[in-house]
Order: sequence, then structure tokens, then C-alpha cells
Amino acid sequence: MSTHSLYFPSIFLFFITLLQVAAFQEGDLAALQAFKSMISHDPQGMLNSWNDSRHFCEWEGITCGRRHRRVTALDLRSKALSGLLSPQIGNLSFLREINLMNNTIQGEIPLEFGRLHRLETLLLSDNSLVGKIPANLSYCSRLTVLFLGNNKLVGSIPFEFVSLYRLKQLALPMNNLTGGIPPFLGNLTSLEVVSLDGNPFGGNIPDSLGQLKELKTLGIGGNNLSGTIPPSIYNLSFLVIFSVSENQMHGSLPPSLGLYFPNLKRFQMNENFFSGSIPISLSNASKLEYVQIASNSFFGKLSVNFGGMKNLSNLILEYNNLGSGESDEMGFMNSLANCSKLQVLSLGGNQFRGALPHSIANLSSQLQILVLGSNKLYGSIPSGIGNLVNLYSLQIEENQFTGSIPKEMGKLLNLQGLDFGGNHFSGEIPSTLGNLSSLYEIFLSDNNLSGVIPSSLGNLERLAILEMFANELSGTIPEDIFNISSLSVSLNLAENHFVGSIPPRIGNLKALRCFDVSNNDLSGEIPSELGLCSSLEDIYLAENFFNGFIPSFFRTSRGIRKVDLSRNNFFGQIPIFLEALSLEYLNLSFNDFEGRLPTRGIFANASAISVVGCNRLCGGIHELQLPKCTEHESSSQKISQRLKIIISTASAFLGLVIVSFFIFYWHKRRRGPSRQPSRLLTRKTLPRISYKSLLKATDGFSSTQLIGVGSFGSVYKGVFDEDGTVVAIKVINLQRQGASQSFKAECKALKNIRHRNLVKVITSCSSIDFQGNDFKAIVYEYMPNGSLEKWLHPEAVAQRDEEIGIQKLTLLQRISIAIDVASALDYLHCHCQEPILHCDLKPSNILLDNDLSAHIGDFGLARFHQQVSNPTLNSSVGVRGTIGYAAPGLRAVVTNSGFNGDVELAEAEAIIFEAQVAIAFENVVNLVKGNESSPKEIF
Ligand SMILES: *[C@@H]1O[C@H](CO)[C@@H](O)[C@H](O)[C@H]1NC(C)=O
Ligand SMILES: *[C@@H]1O[C@H](CO)[C@@H](O)[C@H](O)[C@H]1NC(C)=O
Ligand SMILES: *[C@@H]1O[C@H](CO)[C@@H](O)[C@H](O)[C@H]1NC(C)=O
Ligand SMILES: *[C@@H]1O[C@H](CO)[C@@H](O)[C@H](O)[C@H]1NC(C)=O
Ligand SMILES: *[C@@H]1O[C@H](CO)[C@@H](O)[C@H](O)[C@H]1NC(C)=O
Ligand SMILES: *[C@@H]1O[C@H](CO)[C@@H](O)[C@H](O)[C@H]1NC(C)=O
Repeated sequence: MSTHSLYFPSIFLFFITLLQVAAFQEGDLAALQAFKSMISHDPQGMLNSWNDSRHFCEWEGITCGRRHRRVTALDLRSKALSGLLSPQIGNLSFLREINLMNNTIQGEIPLEFGRLHRLETLLLSDNSLVGKIPANLSYCSRLTVLFLGNNKLVGSIPFEFVSLYRLKQLALPMNNLTGGIPPFLGNLTSLEVVSLDGNPFGGNIPDSLGQLKELKTLGIGGNNLSGTIPPSIYNLSFLVIFSVSENQMHGSLPPSLGLYFPNLKRFQMNENFFSGSIPISLSNASKLEYVQIASNSFFGKLSVNFGGMKNLSNLILEYNNLGSGESDEMGFMNSLANCSKLQVLSLGGNQFRGALPHSIANLSSQLQILVLGSNKLYGSIPSGIGNLVNLYSLQIEENQFTGSIPKEMGKLLNLQGLDFGGNHFSGEIPSTLGNLSSLYEIFLSDNNLSGVIPSSLGNLERLAILEMFANELSGTIPEDIFNISSLSVSLNLAENHFVGSIPPRIGNLKALRCFDVSNNDLSGEIPSELGLCSSLEDIYLAENFFNGFIPSFFRTSRGIRKVDLSRNNFFGQIPIFLEALSLEYLNLSFNDFEGRLPTRGIFANASAISVVGCNRLCGGIHELQLPKCTEHESSSQKISQRLKIIISTASAFLGLVIVSFFIFYWHKRRRGPSRQPSRLLTRKTLPRISYKSLLKATDGFSSTQLIGVGSFGSVYKGVFDEDGTVVAIKVINLQRQGASQSFKAECKALKNIRHRNLVKVITSCSSIDFQGNDFKAIVYEYMPNGSLEKWLHPEAVAQRDEEIGIQKLTLLQRISIAIDVASALDYLHCHCQEPILHCDLKPSNILLDNDLSAHIGDFGLARFHQQVSNPTLNSSVGVRGTIGYAAPGLRAVVTNSGFNGDVELAEAEAIIFEAQVAIAFENVVNLVKGNESSPKEIF
């Protein structure tokens, strides 16, 4: 053979090969061009380089084999590409790696990927892929790494994957995969990583997973799994990460857990139904870094010695039932002092009982989060807590901690959240809290903290939430608080004893959404600057002494949703502009509003508004059952109209009840002044009243100031020097049996009621007198015209009342008084949250103000209706009823009956008497309203 004949075939072959290579390269080029053509958005211009000026092997993201110049890798991760995947990628037959992670590629994974026989790594996580995982991927028999996590894939893991015996890493988390965790995964014995978290697979953990001897990561959290952990899992001694969080699994942990998993770093089983104790052997898993078993039902003493876990950074045991009540219960915390990398320690929501060990001061200075809330921990907070200088969240709420808040807290300069609420902390709020300039939220609510709010808190420039409700804080609210313009979520100072008014500076709080100062002793008008708080949604001012009109700035407060002005002294008309606001709740009850109630907007929704106890309102929607408005009616006309009705129906009720009280004293006299609407007593700020100031106001409780002696104490007239406010002060005689209960009954009754015909209580004083005895007093609005008793029996009253200038009452005055009394009773019986029975109605308890409007006083015997219906519950209140005023025939039984023994009978009589008056009143009201129904019978 010639050399030619020898060479020819090989040259021929060479050209053939060249042609073939060229053809295949053409195929790769076409495939890449097809890929590019289906990418619809390339904001970073990544694919601009994919042009003819260079060979595709030099394009961005492309790697080629050096000899054959075929594409072996496509890496365009994190390039913000969106579009679809071209099926022609299946032509890149030399591809070993595709990495398109972290783009926004949509559509399905093309089946043609199954033709990539050399593919080893397919990374498509963090895109928006949909559809099923193609079973054809199982033809990629060299596949070792498959990441499809965080897409929108559905369906199950294809059974065909059982042939991917080289697979080492299977990560499909955060998809919508179902059909259970396939048992065949146990046959893929090369697997080191199985991460399936966050798919609704359902079913159990397959026993077969225990065959995966190489497994280091088992992430099957949030897979809707039930059942128990199969024992085979404890064979996986190489496990580093084990997570079954957020399933519905149950069962307990084996005692030797820590011995089975010597390499474990991350152990997560939070949010399941696991129970039993936490195995002591966990101490042996010394490589643990992250322990998260929150929200299960683990119980018993925590006896793990954490001291060997040098790398422990997170220990999260919250929301279990851990705790045994043993005295050394919290001893495990001593071992935590060795964990110098500890960053998060959460023991909240357990049953841990005991004092905090002082070793808390030795916890890692790396500690950032310390959660001990909702346990039964007690004692004081060790001052060493100031060592934990990197803390940014400290939550110890809902325990029984006592003592004061350590001033060393001021060292925790990184603190962002502080929750001490719901404990028994007392003393003052340390001003050092003002140093914590990173603070975002402070919860001190529901403790016994007293004193004033330190003005240093005004330095907290990042504070968004300040909640101090339900304490014993007093004084004025420091103006500095209103400089914290970052306050955005809430400022809640409710249920304290703050006095003074809301300063105009509140207008700084432009971002504030919820402002709550209800149940304090605040007074004055609402400053118009509150209107500058343009983000306000909820305003709670209830149960204070605020007064004035509803401010007009509400007109522009478009975001307002909830307003509670109840139990104050607001007055005037209800402005019509409230109809236009997007209010969801409006409580105006127990104020002195008058006039017509609007009917549109919030006012159309009877369940969203309350006007209870605003007895001078009229109109409104029918459900509110307010009287009809009678236009342009003068008060004297009202009386004469009432009079006509009363006279015309006298036989129905007057004869029975009211007239029988008053007819005896009836004489024609000159007309009294026509009745004015009782004017609001605008109270100036009264400081929280101390024993000392009462002593001063009454000249040392001098007998010259004595204006009455009742069953449980003496009533003095008092004048406060500061502003000359005149008050009546009932000093409870605590020696008298039942007096203390009487005080409580009165406080309870008067706390929640307010009516123009009830004597207003200004405050109460429960203190210690200078002899060290308990001292209790109630301070009332002063009634210059004394009691009705004095007007009915002028001959019986003492000389010093001459200055009042008592005359005989006219019929009109008498009827007007009777109506006042009856309307107060009607209110007590029918319009309070719980019906209240006065139980001691008599002329000496009916007090007259400047224009002879009647006000019922002395609620020392008042009872709530529920108590009455079960009198045996309350038999400790022995004395009920005093010698006094009652309808003829009742008088005999309603006399000092406590001492006569027949308490319940006397009570029943008093109640019947009250009911009679009340029904008489209801009849009047029905007649006034033009109600045709026949008057109710009065027993
Ligand atoms: C590439 O693949 C498609 C199908 O995905 C096929 O129709 C086409 O013929 C292939 N092109 C080349 C050049 O091999
Ligand atoms: C083509 O790609 C090269 C880089 O490979 C680039 O410099 C050039 O601007 C590109 N041409 C176009 C028209 O985008
Ligand atoms: C994802 O890609 C964006 C750019 O599109 C990048 O800013 C971001 O850091 C990437 N995220 C990760 C986790 O790589
Ligand atoms: C997918 O696999 C099937 C065999 O199961 C095969 O017939 C089909 O051609 C494959 N599809 C593609 C697009 O490669
Ligand atoms: C998951 O798939 C189900 C139907 O299979 C669908 O109802 C549900 O909305 C999907 N969830 C998500 C987050 O895509
Ligand atoms: C999985 O492996 C077991 C043996 O360990 C074998 O019996 C079973 O057939 C295999 N399953 C599949 C689907 O290949």
C-alpha cells in the first residue's frame, strides 16, 4: 500500500471530524441563540456580549471544552433575567453544569433537559418556574446536584429519579410539591443533602431514609408531615443538620439522642406536637450551634448541661411546658455561661419557676436576644444584667418579678426592645433608660411602677412604642415625651394617675397611630395641636376629667378609626362633621353632650357608637332609643309639658309613689327660678389627693366643716387652697362594721357610672393617716343646697344651714326633683352595663345643686343586680338601709334592718321601692314619647 492510500482515510476522517465538530458547534450556537431569544428581560445587559463579534465560547457566562469548543457550562446566576427556558438547551449535549439561580425565569423546565446526558449540576433555584419536575431529568444519569428550590413547582418527586444513583444533593425546598416524601429516596445512597422544607408533601417520614448513611442534611420542615420520627433516623450518625420544624409530628425523643448525633450542629423541631423531656444526653452533642425546639409540649426539668457546647449560638426552647418547680430549676443557666458564642436564648412561654440566677451576668456578652417572658419567674432582676451589653431584645414580661427595674439597664446601649410588662415591678422607672438611644419599643405596662415618667425618655429618638398602662405612675406627663417624634405605633399611658392636661406639644407626634391616656386624672380641653398628629387612628381619652367641646380638628382627621371620649366632661353639640369621617368606633357615653345626635356615617351603626349616659342628647337613629328632638323648646315649656302629662296621668303613678312623698308638704308658694340645664362643673386639675391635702382642705376635719353624718362616716365640706375648688368629703368610719365594704361598693358603683342626676365623684383617697391608721375617703362634687331632707324638714336642720336660705319647695320644684330622682334611678336600673340598685334611697341622700337639680348620692349600699339576684353571695354586707325615707307602708321594714336581722326582706323592700319609682318614670317617658301602650302597673 502506498503511503497515500494509508493517509487518505485518516485525512478523510479528519475532515469528516472537522465537519462534524463544526456542525455540532453550529448546534451549540443555535441553542444559545435560542436561549437568548427567549429571555425577555435582561436589565444588566448580560446577553449583549452574546453577538457575532466573538465566538460563543467567549460569551459572558459560557464555558467551553478546550479541545472540542463545545459548551460545558452555562452560568448566569443572579443576573435578573426573566423569560422562558428554551427547549434547545437540550442540544447542548456537552453541558455539565447549568446555573441559572436567582433570576426570574418563568415557565416550565423543558423535558429536553433530559437529553443532557453529561449534566452533573442543575441549579435553577430561586426563579419562578412552574409545572412539574420533568421525569425526563432522570435520563441525566450523571446528575449529582439538583437544586430547584424556591420556585412554583407542583406535583410529586418523579419516581423515575430512583435511577439517579449518583445524586448527592437534592434540594427542592419552597415549592408546592405534594405526594409525600418518596420512600425510594432511601435507595439513593449517595445522598448527602435532602432539603425538601416548605412543601406540602404530607404523609410520614419514610423509614427508608435511615439507609442514607452519608446523609449530613435532612431538611423536612414544613412538609405537612405527621406521625413520629422513625427510629432508623437515629442511624444517621453523620447528620449535621436535622430539621423537622413546622409539621404535625408527635412522639418523644430517645434518651440517647445526643449520642446518636455526635456531629449535629443544627437541631430544629419547633412547631410540632413532640413531648416528653429533653434528653440529658443532648449535653454530648457538643457541636450543637443552633437548637430550636419551640412550640412543642416538652415538659419537666431541663437538666441539659450546655457547658460543653462551645459553639452554641441559639437556644430556643420557648412555648413548651418546661419546668418542674424544683428549687434548682434554673440551674442549667449556670452552664450556659460557658457558651461564649451564645446570641439568642429564649425560654419564654414555659413553666419555669424560680429566681433568675446571678450567673445571668456571666452569659456571653455576645447575647443579643434574651426571652424569659410568660414563665413563673420571680425575685428581682440581678443588676449584673448590665453586663449583657450587646442585648438588643430583652423580654421578661408576664412573670412575677418584683423589685425595681435595675438602673444598670442603662448600660444596654444596643437595646431595641424591652418588655417588662405584666410583672410586679415597683419603684420608679430608672432615668437611665433614657440612655438607650437604640430603643424602638418599651413595654412596662401592668406593673406597680410609681413616681413620674423620667423626662430622660424624651431622648429616645428611635422609640416607636411606649406602653406604660396599668401602673401607679403619677404626676404630669413630661413634655419631653411629646418630643419623641419617632413615636409611631403607640403611646399608651392608660390606667395610671397622671394629672394635668395634654400639652400642645403632642402636635410633634405626627407619625403616632394610637394614643391612649384613658383612665387617668387628666383634665382640661383637648389641645387643638392633637390635630397635627396626622397619622392618628385610635384616640382613647376615656375616664378622665377632660372637658370642652369635641374639637373641630377632627374634621380633617381622615385616618381616625376609633375614638373613645367616654366618661369625661365633654359638652356641647355632637358635630355633624363626624358623619363624614371613616370612624369605626365612637364612644361618647357619659359626657354632658346635648342636642341632636347625627344619624349618618358612624352614627348609622348602633353597634359602633355609644351615647349611653348622655341624657341630654336627642334624635339619632331609632336603635339608640334617644328621645325625639323637640325643636326650639325652652326648658320652662318642657316642664309645663311634662306637667300636663304628669297631671293627666297622675292616677297611674303619682298617687302611688311620687305624690305620696311630696303631697304632704305641698303649699302654694312663689314660683322658683325656672330650671336651667344643670351647668357643668368645670373642675380644675385636682392633684392626686393625699390624706394631708384633705386634712388641710377641711381645717383638720373640724366640726365647723361637718355637713352630715351618715351610716358609714362623716361628710365634710372642703376647700382646696390651690384653686378654691369646693368639694364634699366623706370620711369613712372604718371602725364601723361593714364600712370598708361600703367604701368598696361605692367606689365600684361610681367608677363606671355618670349621670347628671348622680353626685359626681371627683376622686377617692385610700391612705394612711398620721396615726398610722387606714384612712379612706371619697371626694364628691359639692352640692351647695344640701340634702332634700333639709328642704322637706326645715325645722329639723341645724342652725348653721340658715345661710342656704331654705324655703318651702314649690310643686313644680318638687316634681322636677322627683323627675330628677326617677331619671337617675332609671339610668341606674336600665342603662348601666350592670344594673345598679342604690338600696338606700331617701331624702338625706338626695342632694340639691345651685339650681335645685337633684343628685342622688351615697352609694355605700349599692349593689349590682347580679349580686342581688343571689343575695347569699353577699351576706357579708350586713347593714343595708338606714332609718329614712320610704313609701308609707314600706317604712316599717326599711329600717336599720341589718341590726334587726331581716336583711333580705329589707333589701327586697328597698328594691321594690326603687323599682316603683323607676317604673313611674318609665311611664312618664313613654307618655312624653307618645307611646300608646298603657302605663305599666306599679306592683
Ligand atoms: C435542537 O433541538 C430541537 C428540539 O429541541 C430540534 O428540533 C433541533 O433540530 C435541534 N437543532 C440542532 C441543530 O440540533
Ligand atoms: C458584542 O459583544 C462585545 C463583547 O463581546 C461588546 O463589546 C459589543 O458591544 C457587543 N456588540 C453589541 C452590538 O452589543
Ligand atoms: C440575586 O440577584 C440580585 C440581582 O438580580 C442580587 O442583587 C442579589 O444579591 C442576588 N441574591 C443572592 C442571594 O445571590
Ligand atoms: C422524555 O422521555 C421520554 C421517555 O420517557 C422520551 O420518549 C421523550 O422523547 C423525552 N422527551 C424529550 C423532549 O426529550
Ligand atoms: C399549591 O397548589 C395548590 C393546588 O395543587 C394550589 O391550590 C395552591 O394555591 C398552590 N400554592 C401555591 C403557594 O402556589
Ligand atoms: C430500593 O432498594 C431496595 C433494597 O434496598 C430494593 O428492594 C428496592 O427494589 C429498591 N427500590 C427501587 C424502586 O429500586
